[in-house]
Amino acid sequence: MTVTSHRPTAGDQQSDFDATIAADGRIEPRDWMPDRYRATLIRQIAQHAHSEIIGMQPEGNWLTRAPSLERKSILLAKVQDEAGHGLYLYAAAETLGMSRDEMLDLLHSGGQKYSSIFNYPTLTWADNGAIGWLVDGAAIVNQVPLCRASYGPYARAMIRICKEESFHQRQGFSILLALARGTDEQKAMAQDAVNRWWWPSLMMFGPPDGESPNSADSMAWGIKRFSNDELRQRFVDMTVPQAEILGITLPDPELRWDEESGHYAFGALDWSEFKRVLRGDGPNNAERVRRRKAAHDDGAWVREAATAYAAKQAARMEQSA
Ligand SMILES: [Fe+2]
Ligand SMILES: [Fe+2]
Repeated sequence: MTVTSHRPTAGDQQSDFDATIAADGRIEPRDWMPDRYRATLIRQIAQHAHSEIIGMQPEGNWLTRAPSLERKSILLAKVQDEAGHGLYLYAAAETLGMSRDEMLDLLHSGGQKYSSIFNYPTLTWADNGAIGWLVDGAAIVNQVPLCRASYGPYARAMIRICKEESFHQRQGFSILLALARGTDEQKAMAQDAVNRWWWPSLMMFGPPDGESPNSADSMAWGIKRFSNDELRQRFVDMTVPQAEILGITLPDPELRWDEESGHYAFGALDWSEFKRVLRGDGPNNAERVRRRKAAHDDGAWVREAATAYAAKQAARMEQSA
């Protein structure tokens, strides 16, 4: 009897991958994938995971100062959700072959990035409203299409994350609505927070399409489904009517409804500011990373204890077997 085995060649593997992408199927961890697809996903998912956990800091800063028990429990749930998002995403990135330890080391050393939006300070209680409404709102617009990303573990993580993000967006809107219906001082506080968070939120969608170096590959691979500018426009169109309900003015004198395009037109973004914060010169970059490292170091005993416990359990299992 002769046994013939068919060993897939590199060409077969590439064409299987291409066919899966073309059919809008999902690539799973066990599947062959091009090295650049894997590297792009690791970069993107790790950056996303880092953003979730660094993003806990600006609002975590207000947990002890929330104005009522109800607001405090809502904010606590929100900040805990972000920790969970980080965990789902680190787990998704690990399926691509990079360990969580390695990702955290890269975060701490600046080798991997997190979203620049979290380098701005939360100066008043109203900032928690502006973050939920605008930052989580922009995150939703960015992330809903990722529920259909071609990499299975990422897409599945995003489905649950998006459900929780919509609660985050609503709690932010609810904070601002309460302030907007309050005293003149409260109204001014809400307006000031929106003034500071509006432009950075628009920058969350990344550079204009013409200057977005990784976009073309990500689109071809079914990781990204819409361009940065398309998503930014979608966010503006969604947010302007909500600002009207709040009675808050968005800080853009050029913002107007454009009959012809059927979209809101808006003013130019100050990309030099974006690049400055991205380079590490934002108001809170150093502080965010310093606190993250300190939290990691403070947690060393928990990791050591968990590792020792797992070893003990394994030894016991072996003994009883
Ligand atoms: Fe999140
Ligand atoms: Fe969120």
